[in-house]
Amino acid sequence: MSKMFTFTIDEKELEAKSGDTILDAADSAGIYIPRLCSMKGLVPQGACRVCTVMVNGRPQSACTQPATPGIIVENESDKLLEIRKTIIEMLFVEGNHICPLCEKSGNCELQALAYRFGIVAPSFPFFFPKREIDATHPDVFIDRNRCILCARCVRASRDLDGKHVFDFVGRGSERKIAVNAKTSLSETNLGSADKVIESCPVGAILRKRDAYAVPIGSRLYDKQPIGSDIEKKGARS
Ligand code: SF4
Ligand code: FES
Repeated sequence: MSKMFTFTIDEKELEAKSGDTILDAADSAGIYIPRLCSMKGLVPQGACRVCTVMVNGRPQSACTQPATPGIIVENESDKLLEIRKTIIEMLFVEGNHICPLCEKSGNCELQALAYRFGIVAPSFPFFFPKREIDATHPDVFIDRNRCILCARCVRASRDLDGKHVFDFVGRGSERKIAVNAKTSLSETNLGSADKVIESCPVGAILRKRDAYAVPIGSRLYDKQPIGSDIEKKGARS
């Protein structure tokens, strides 16, 4: 049986069980810690650092850091807001994110975090990289311009679909998502029912013919800010 213990986040005491990460325990207590590369059902990777919290005064990623008895966690502070905003801004300038035209607009976790943090325009210069689009598959396309290298597709294809359709190649600014075929996505074993297709937090992997199906005003983050589903759970308890 799991051992229960307590620790605090922003001076609120919460209960956790052995094996929980700080993010798991926060979610159960209705405390939202922003995240991008973390997704329920996937092993945490610690790729994006948006979930950075202070643990006993030191920065740690909440999605990978185990909760332990008595730790003092800071989640909402001006300093952490600044760190998270900087990460989000860097992700925007590093790729080509054209939100008003993007099919994922209103359902995109990166865009929703920008709204939540009040980011109107990035304070860094845009890189405007030239990246490939792969629209060869009959049902799915990849637009690498919008990829934030979160590795959710790598883990989802491997762990939820039992395949290995996606992985990274290259280093540094040349790092990009690749597929398990010499030529293109159409040559892979990606199926239209694969769970990986829904795992991308942005508009980098998208189902064809589904674009703009939900009108503006009814999209996921038109109705409620990102994280409010978790915070509502906290309000009920
Ligand atoms: S394609 Fe999507 S899920 Fe895959 S690494 Fe890029 S942003 Fe993440
Ligand atoms: S959500 Fe924790 S590092 Fe990305």
